[in-house]
Amino acid sequence: MSDEQLLAAAALLREARSVVVFTGAGVSAESGVPTFRAAANALWNQVDVRNFAYPAGYRRNQPDAWRWYAQRAAKTREVVPNAGHVAIAEIERHAEEFLLVTQNIDSLHQRAGSKNVLELHGNLRQPRYFDCGAPSDWLAAPVCSACRGLLRPDVVMFEEELPEGAMDRAREAADSCDVLISVGTSAQVWPAAEIPRYALRGGARVVVVNPDMEGQPWGHHVTQLVGTAGAILPQLVRLAWP
Ligand code: OAD
Repeated sequence: MSDEQLLAAAALLREARSVVVFTGAGVSAESGVPTFRAAANALWNQVDVRNFAYPAGYRRNQPDAWRWYAQRAAKTREVVPNAGHVAIAEIERHAEEFLLVTQNIDSLHQRAGSKNVLELHGNLRQPRYFDCGAPSDWLAAPVCSACRGLLRPDVVMFEEELPEGAMDRAREAADSCDVLISVGTSAQVWPAAEIPRYALRGGARVVVVNPDMEGQPWGHHVTQLVGTAGAILPQLVRLAWP
């Protein structure tokens, strides 16, 4: 990546009225949270996704699946936001209009100071019961006394719908923004992966921050900043608002 690309992206950011930042697991990698694909410690290389992230598999695979999420929740409480999260919170303070759309469930954006955060895939803060949906806590009884449903994380599993209205809100923001920055996502999971496309179709400029552009589907339509979120985003902010 050249300095010119970074400067050009910083200029786009400075001049934008409305900014959307779209994030995936890569933004938390430098905090010690594993990603899902490709890396040696990636979650879907460690466990069989069908037994942990599909509702039927989750129900079958008890108590292991429950324990796996509880351990991930504990881990996210131990780690701290990195310079990438902090820089995204800083962008929000400068932008006139801003939405952070995240696929992450680790709450690190909020802990870094981001305010306007749309969590597309739920969160690990508070589990709930499968059938009645009542919120609970990680130490609660594994079966609900009212609905007899199992305790589960409040995250979106495969084959499940996104939280109501979430995709509409993300789409509306992406359609009408001036700049969308996509950080740390392989852009492989639908429908979230559509979000940068909405921005492109709406005429916005799209900037992708990722150390590995191999799998990225965007080609020359986007500005590619090759590097980690923790290295690139603070530079981008410094150049945009010196
Ligand atoms: P992936 O694991 O698919 O992709 C992580 C991306 O982050 C890859 O493109 C890496 O190259 C990049 N990356 C790694 N380290 C980075 C760093 N330090 N800075 C910036 N980028 C880095 O994760 P997601 O795209 O988030 O869904 O996956 C999307 C969804 O798939 C997740 O929300 C999850 C999963 O199944 C659900 O659980 C519903």
